[in-house]
Amino acid sequence: MADKTQTRALFLCLLICISTTSGNKPRSRRPCKELVFYFHDILYHGYNYQNATSAIVGSPKWGNKTAWAQPFAFGDLIVFDDPITLDNNLHSPPVGRAQGMYAFAQRTDPLMNKTRDISVIGGTGDFFMARGVATLSTDAFEGEVYFRLRVDIRLYECW
Ligand SMILES: *[C@@H]1O[C@H](CO)[C@@H](O)[C@H](O)[C@H]1NC(C)=O
Ligand SMILES: *[C@@H]1O[C@H](CO)[C@@H](O)[C@H](O)[C@H]1NC(C)=O
Ligand SMILES: *[C@@H]1O[C@H](CO)[C@@H](O)[C@H](O)[C@H]1NC(C)=O
Repeated sequence: MADKTQTRALFLCLLICISTTSGNKPRSRRPCKELVFYFHDILYHGYNYQNATSAIVGSPKWGNKTAWAQPFAFGDLIVFDDPITLDNNLHSPPVGRAQGMYAFAQRTDPLMNKTRDISVIGGTGDFFMARGVATLSTDAFEGEVYFRLRVDIRLYECW
């Protein structure tokens, strides 16, 4: 019994020691890097495949691939390759492209919310091992054909 308590105490000490050594470096509460950019999404609506930058690739049974499912695009999976610009003009020279996919997984209107936070959990090049938060806000929304997101990135860990 005594042995068990001792082992437990030792283990506890070890835990505390580990947490105090890793706690030596105080974490900064201020971002180490801040960026703002815009990304432009032109949805495929049946006739614009030449300049569409996103396409519905999966939709629920009651939807189709030329329009967001009703209600709230719930169940749609969209693949995108969107230009990124430094200002809110679609025709500004792009500084990069956002490529990936997004899915609508809630039965409320996600685009109409003022802001949404998503986690930055890594990156490559200058953003190797970066961590932080990206705050998305809908900057423009035109008839389910075009929308523009403003992205405010605050990184709290930079290398
Ligand atoms: C896509 O291209 C068509 C025809 O070239 C043009 O009328 C339309 O404005 C373009 N859409 C956007 C969002 O640029
Ligand atoms: C696709 O769905 C939209 C919205 O539900 C509807 O207006 C449109 O007619 C549908 N298109 C086709 C080709 O079924
Ligand atoms: C978005 O806004 C709606 C209505 O204001 C709210 O009910 C919902 O919780 C919000 N969602 C998020 C992810 O903030």
